[in-house]
Amino acid sequence: MKKVLLSGIKPTGTSGLHLGNYFGAIKQFVDMQDSYDSYVFVADLHALTTVHDAEQMRKNIFDIAAAYLACGLDPKKVVLFKQSDVAGPITELTWIFNCITTVPYLERAHAYKDANVKDHEVSVGLFDYPILMASDILIQDADVVPVGADQKQHVEYARDTAQKFNRIWGETFTIPEPLILEDTGVVPGTDGRKMSKSYGNTISLFATDEEITKAVMGIVTDSSGNRPENVYAIHKLLRTEAELELLYAEHAGKYKALKEALAKDLQDFIRPLREKYLALQANPEEVYAVLRRGAETVRVKVEAKQMQFKKAVGLE
Ligand code: ADP
Ligand code: TRP
Repeated sequence: MKKVLLSGIKPTGTSGLHLGNYFGAIKQFVDMQDSYDSYVFVADLHALTTVHDAEQMRKNIFDIAAAYLACGLDPKKVVLFKQSDVAGPITELTWIFNCITTVPYLERAHAYKDANVKDHEVSVGLFDYPILMASDILIQDADVVPVGADQKQHVEYARDTAQKFNRIWGETFTIPEPLILEDTGVVPGTDGRKMSKSYGNTISLFATDEEITKAVMGIVTDSSGNRPENVYAIHKLLRTEAELELLYAEHAGKYKALKEALAKDLQDFIRPLREKYLALQANPEEVYAVLRRGAETVRVKVEAKQMQFKKAVGLE
């Protein structure tokens, strides 16, 4: 029997997905779709913590689903679904977990701490975010959860929560493992910091050739060495170190030429993805049909699990 893989991305992006999302998350789902029993979803309930415009929400959901398909997730191999299509069982489990989770434990979550310092007033939804995520993971009996390094703590919350539930009510949930690729755990942005839409240092996954050139020419370089480190760090996503060694030796100190080489490689890499993405944008029904089929499949699975956890706690 194959192990169960589960992961999701929250549809919050106004500027869409970027290379960090691809190399840190989606690529892993694609690479593993043959060897795992895979479930990949659009985390729209999570996005509600920040997206409060219905039209924007609908568009964001569609864009993530289309991106999954454009990047090579095959609906014959992976169950692709949207979280809110099985909101009933998931939020019910979230409530049960809430009742065995303490406030100080959630106060230790990095995402909450950051938001609490930066923002005004944090919503209850954001505070409870790790528990909703634990429910996504545990309701599927996921063995592995491929995510970027920033999500590791959340998977630990899921592990803790599973253990706590199992201790109180008996063996019910599988303990999941995070799966974080060393090389791409943190994909750097154009300024060398982690690529993130909140830093404005992203390169869009479906960028046009011109947009790619513009982003690459804007990569921050310092002139202290022969190798522009921020250019190299992104280049490393696309080529082997041996290939880069030659290229960077040939153009040592010539930052413009190196940037041009990176722009060309990115354009060649992104072009087929963008073409597929645009084709799906022109044929939305294909995307919605995939989500509908995914919802049907996943509903059967999570409803069986729902019966099991409700029995365990005495609600059935
Ligand atoms: P952002 O930081 O731009 O808001 P999200 O938080 O929406 O991105 O991330 C969606 C997924 O992509 C998560 O699994 C996250 O771990 C991964 N991810 C995002 N940025 C990076 C990055 N720079 N490097 C590696 N993985 C990333
Ligand atoms: N929290 C994840 C993110 O911000 C999205 C997510 C929600 C998720 N539920 C999940 C990821 C379950 C993996 C498994 O990117």
